[in-house]
Amino acid sequence: MKLHNPNFPASCSTHVHMILLFTITLLCLQPATFFATSTNETDHLVLLKFKESIADDPYGILSSWNDSIHFCNWYGVTCGRHHGRVTTLVLEGHKLRGTITPYIGNLTFLRAINLQNNSFYGEIPKEAGHLFRLRHLYLSSNTLGGEIPTSLTNCSELRVMVLESNKLFGKIPMELGSMTKLLALVVSTNTLTGGIPPSLGNLSLLVNFSVAYNNLEGNIPESIGHLKSLSVLKVGINKLNGMVPSSLYNLSSISTIDFVFNQLNGALPANIGLTLHNLKLFEIGENEFFGPIPSSLCNASKLQILDVGGNNFVGSVPTNLGYLLDLEHLRLSYNNLGRDLGFLTSLGNCSKMESLTFRSNQFEGVLPNSIGNLSTQLNALKFGDNQISGMIPTALQNLINLNSLEMDENLFIGVIPTYFGKFQKMQGLDLSGNKLSGQIPSSIGNITQLVQLNFSRNNLEGSIPPTIGNCHSLQLLDVSQNYFSGVISLQVFSLFSLSLLLNLSCNLFSGELPVEVGNLKNINSLDISENNLSGEIPTTIGNILNLEELHLQGNSFEGIIPSSMAYLKGLELLDVSRNNLSGFIPKGLEKLLFLKYLNISFNDIEGPLPTIGVFKNVDATSIIGNNISFVGAFHNYNYQNAPKLQNQESLLLLEQ
Ligand SMILES: *[C@@H]1O[C@H](CO)[C@@H](O)[C@H](O)[C@H]1NC(C)=O
Ligand SMILES: *[C@@H]1O[C@H](CO)[C@@H](O)[C@H](O)[C@H]1NC(C)=O
Ligand SMILES: *[C@@H]1O[C@H](CO)[C@@H](O)[C@H](O)[C@H]1NC(C)=O
Ligand SMILES: *[C@@H]1O[C@H](CO)[C@@H](O)[C@H](O)[C@H]1NC(C)=O
Ligand SMILES: *[C@@H]1O[C@H](CO)[C@@H](O)[C@H](O)[C@H]1NC(C)=O
Ligand SMILES: *[C@@H]1O[C@H](CO)[C@@H](O)[C@H](O)[C@H]1NC(C)=O
Ligand SMILES: *[C@@H]1O[C@H](CO)[C@@H](O)[C@H](O)[C@H]1NC(C)=O
Ligand SMILES: *[C@@H]1O[C@H](CO)[C@@H](O)[C@H](O)[C@H]1NC(C)=O
Ligand SMILES: *[C@@H]1O[C@H](CO)[C@@H](O)[C@H](O)[C@H]1NC(C)=O
Ligand SMILES: *[C@@H]1O[C@H](CO)[C@@H](O)[C@H](O)[C@H]1NC(C)=O
Ligand SMILES: *[C@@H]1O[C@H](CO)[C@@H](O)[C@H](O)[C@H]1NC(C)=O
Ligand SMILES: *[C@@H]1O[C@H](CO)[C@@H](O)[C@H](O)[C@H]1NC(C)=O
Repeated sequence: MKLHNPNFPASCSTHVHMILLFTITLLCLQPATFFATSTNETDHLVLLKFKESIADDPYGILSSWNDSIHFCNWYGVTCGRHHGRVTTLVLEGHKLRGTITPYIGNLTFLRAINLQNNSFYGEIPKEAGHLFRLRHLYLSSNTLGGEIPTSLTNCSELRVMVLESNKLFGKIPMELGSMTKLLALVVSTNTLTGGIPPSLGNLSLLVNFSVAYNNLEGNIPESIGHLKSLSVLKVGINKLNGMVPSSLYNLSSISTIDFVFNQLNGALPANIGLTLHNLKLFEIGENEFFGPIPSSLCNASKLQILDVGGNNFVGSVPTNLGYLLDLEHLRLSYNNLGRDLGFLTSLGNCSKMESLTFRSNQFEGVLPNSIGNLSTQLNALKFGDNQISGMIPTALQNLINLNSLEMDENLFIGVIPTYFGKFQKMQGLDLSGNKLSGQIPSSIGNITQLVQLNFSRNNLEGSIPPTIGNCHSLQLLDVSQNYFSGVISLQVFSLFSLSLLLNLSCNLFSGELPVEVGNLKNINSLDISENNLSGEIPTTIGNILNLEELHLQGNSFEGIIPSSMAYLKGLELLDVSRNNLSGFIPKGLEKLLFLKYLNISFNDIEGPLPTIGVFKNVDATSIIGNNISFVGAFHNYNYQNAPKLQNQESLLLLEQ
């Protein structure tokens, strides 16, 4: 047998002793068992093998791994002071790319490996199971594949196994249940399948258990409730189902529960806040839990994050949550909670509150003034899609650090308060789908950080205040379905930041569409349909090169469809129906590769219809009510005899 390292026989010879000669020779020749009697030279060899399997070391940290330095002084290596053997290998966060050599199994004095946050790929070598002294194994944030080697269960001293954020697949080996010294088992963010093995309930010292963000199925085994030392339990983002075992709610040591995005169910025990009095994070959102929210949660006085959103909770929200003085995030959205908003008053003492969301429930009644006693730390307040009525209270102006305010789809009346201009940090404001009236206050222009502004579906009137031009970050502006009138403020067309949507549709805007519309170069969707706009469509419309949807229908535009529209290479939808447009269909439109929907119906446009592009699949209803010959619609149709289409009957011919 050929040995790879020339030093190898030498190291054997240092141990040569007459009586052991035969044994040692045998060991030298049988590398598989050699680890049992390895020496410092073995460690040296293993480290060289380790370096060999690193393909890329951009920071050059392994350049110190050379012969002029003893290996115990190589970067990231520590040796025991007395035996001179490698005890730790710590190479975290150095962008190392390579595989983990199987030789690592021979570093039998190793107590800790930390290769976190690199680009190790390939499998975790099963030989790691020989590291019987290993206590800490940190391999997270790499691209390791394969399965979790069952051999690791032989590392009986292992305390911490952190394998998260890799590409591990297969099942969680049930044999891990025998590693009774484990304190942390973290295998989250991989693609593991199968179930959570009930045997893990034997890990009686376990403190951290995270299997979140995998594809695990089945239920949470009852045995997990036996883990009396458990502090962190994360199983979120899997496909787990069934009842959460009640034994879990008895684990007083638990500080973090993450169940989010599964199909877990059950009611929360009435005394949950008393048994789980160390809870800091309780996140059970997007599951199938039901029943009431227990008022005992107020006794879990360390709670910082409470997320029960996206379940089937019913009844009223306990009015004592205000005892949770450390509460930072409260999410109640998407349940059947209601109807009383009394709980808001109690939250006035939660001075660390940053976000409060109770969207899509059945809350009703007026918004209490005590909303203004919420923490000024609050940056997100979202309660759209309820039946909350009355005026927007003046007290709301206290919440000066709001970044996002969503109160859409409610029954609010009255005006948009002028004080909204004080919300200097506001980026998202959604008041759509209410019964607000009056004008948009010009102070809206003071909210210069605004990114998305939605006032649609209210009873607002007047014009868009010119101060809107100060909102230089606005990406979306929707004022559709109101009673806005007069000419569209020119400042709207100076908002170069508009990239998602400008929706002015279904109002009473009149006058011409200014040539400045062409300044909105970044916008994807422009909807000015169903107004009283007149004049010609400005040719500058061809400058809006990012346009994907253009709705001009239901106005009184006249003149031709500008041929500049052919420049709108990304256009997917064009609706100019129900105007007074005339002339021919611009030839260039047939070259718009992404155009999927075109509606030119009810104008005075003349044919013939182009033959390619969107016109190949033209739907009859989209050209009805014009003077178009349908020559292109059937390729073999006789052009000379093409009739003029002026009524619906003849259009039936176009159906394919
Ligand atoms: C170490 O481990 C590898 C792979 O498990 C083995 O082939 C080799 O012979 C062992 N011995 C030494 C001294 O590296
Ligand atoms: C290995 O250990 C022996 C004695 O135990 C010592 O003489 C030798 O210098 C060591 N080699 C290295 C490279 O540390
Ligand atoms: C070995 O590593 C040391 C420390 O990084 C370095 O100073 C030295 O130049 C290296 N020697 C060689 C031959 O690369
Ligand atoms: C990962 O390592 C890189 C350097 O390689 C470092 O910049 C980054 O902060 C580290 N990430 C984490 C999460 O530790
Ligand atoms: C664990 O070690 C024992 C004895 O050394 C060996 O027989 C067994 O195959 C190992 N188990 C695994 C899973 O590697
Ligand atoms: C571990 O747990 C399983 C199932 O919970 C049980 O059947 C088994 O006997 C336990 N094994 C040990 C070694 O405790
Ligand atoms: C357990 O988890 C907590 C929180 O995620 C972390 O701070 C702690 O370091 C972990 N402990 C171990 C032993 O992994
Ligand atoms: C929870 O603990 C209480 C009191 O210690 C006990 O009576 C009850 O049976 C336990 N419930 C479960 C499901 O373990
Ligand atoms: C739970 O909290 C409430 C409100 O602070 C308090 O009145 C009650 O005594 C607490 N219960 C226990 C058992 O601590
Ligand atoms: C806030 O705390 C004070 C002092 O403990 C208490 O008197 C008051 O009732 C609390 N307010 C609310 C709204 O819970
Ligand atoms: C809200 O705060 C005001 C003082 O800003 C105080 O007068 C009022 O009593 C508080 N309301 C509630 C319900 O705590
Ligand atoms: C808006 O800004 C103007 C000018 O900076 C200022 O006079 C006005 O008070 C502000 N209004 C609000 C509501 O912040």
